[in-house]
Amino acid sequence: MKKVWKLLSMLTVMMLAVGMLAACGDSSGSKGEVSIGIVLPTKDEPRWVQDETRFKDALADSEYTTEILFSQGSSAKEKENVETLLNKGIDVLIIAPHDGAAAGAAVAAAKKEGVTVIAYDRLITDTDAVDYYVTFDSLAVGAAQGQYLIDNAKGKNVPLYLYAGAASDNNAFLFFEGAWSVLQPKIADGTFVIANSSEAEALKGKKDLTRDELGKILGQVTTNWDPNEAINKAQTHLTAAAASLKGDVAILAPNDGTARSIADVFSSDSAISSYVVTGQDAEKASVQYIIDGKQSMTVFKDVRTLVKDAIGMAIDILDDKTPETTGTYNNGSVDVKAKQTDVIVVDQENVKKELIDSKYYEASEFKGL
Ligand code: BGC
Repeated sequence: MKKVWKLLSMLTVMMLAVGMLAACGDSSGSKGEVSIGIVLPTKDEPRWVQDETRFKDALADSEYTTEILFSQGSSAKEKENVETLLNKGIDVLIIAPHDGAAAGAAVAAAKKEGVTVIAYDRLITDTDAVDYYVTFDSLAVGAAQGQYLIDNAKGKNVPLYLYAGAASDNNAFLFFEGAWSVLQPKIADGTFVIANSSEAEALKGKKDLTRDELGKILGQVTTNWDPNEAINKAQTHLTAAAASLKGDVAILAPNDGTARSIADVFSSDSAISSYVVTGQDAEKASVQYIIDGKQSMTVFKDVRTLVKDAIGMAIDILDDKTPETTGTYNNGSVDVKAKQTDVIVVDQENVKKELIDSKYYEASEFKGL
């Protein structure tokens, strides 16, 4: 009898120990701890911090557990982030890649685990391991930037300075393609003179550029999405520019971070009498630049909508429903089902209506509205 009791108490202790171990496992990340994993490219650009904030707002009352990780501009860190989330048992991965092609390996690992992959804002290219894509209309972003330059350029032969995003980001191609589609006829008719790209100059007779041709121009005028690289390029271009390429100029800047840098360089050159400069993202600092007349416009991409679409899609997937899509994007390997959102041009005229009245920002965040 004594032996039986001893055996039973030993068994109880063992069962307790196993239970405790399992509980420990849970808190350190076993299957099912997080249902939606979110990976964003970098905290160094306000654009992506905006997305983080909007995700947190949207998820505040959600029953689903989520975790957001930043890749800090490194594809290796991005892969590590995806693996961390896979170890926490995610079912859906929402990812804005740092480098669209390099991210293929990370999402392939997710697919292998049966996770549904949603590319967020930036497409992941040359892989079949991406299920959905939520995005803004990036061609429209570029076209809006180009059209703004056309509508605000003064006279003929206006020097046109071209800048682009990182060639590792599919969007950079789309933005430039959209801008070129409206600018090219205005270069051909003598409204604009290309000031800083021999590759663009060589292609100025062609409205529809191939990816290779776009790549050549990007290779010359890329900022790599880096404000410092934008400063260096703008300085180099202005140093090299003849007097005829100064005066009243137009500048295609791909986003707000680079626009502010480029605008600062141009405004400190005494031979530049005025400039029109584009942007995108409606970053707070650029909204202030617009109010102050230092940046001409931005393309407002309402991140609340993108976040809502991405989360909605993820929840449909978790609920075994088919997410609603509006079209497809070819990523070089497959047609990815996509949901696309429109963009809004913002300048001094409508900044209050679009960004304050819409409650995107608060008036108190700006001076001189
Ligand atoms: C995004 C832009 C952003 C840029 C740099 C692009 O893919 O669409 O909103 O400004 O990356 O981060």
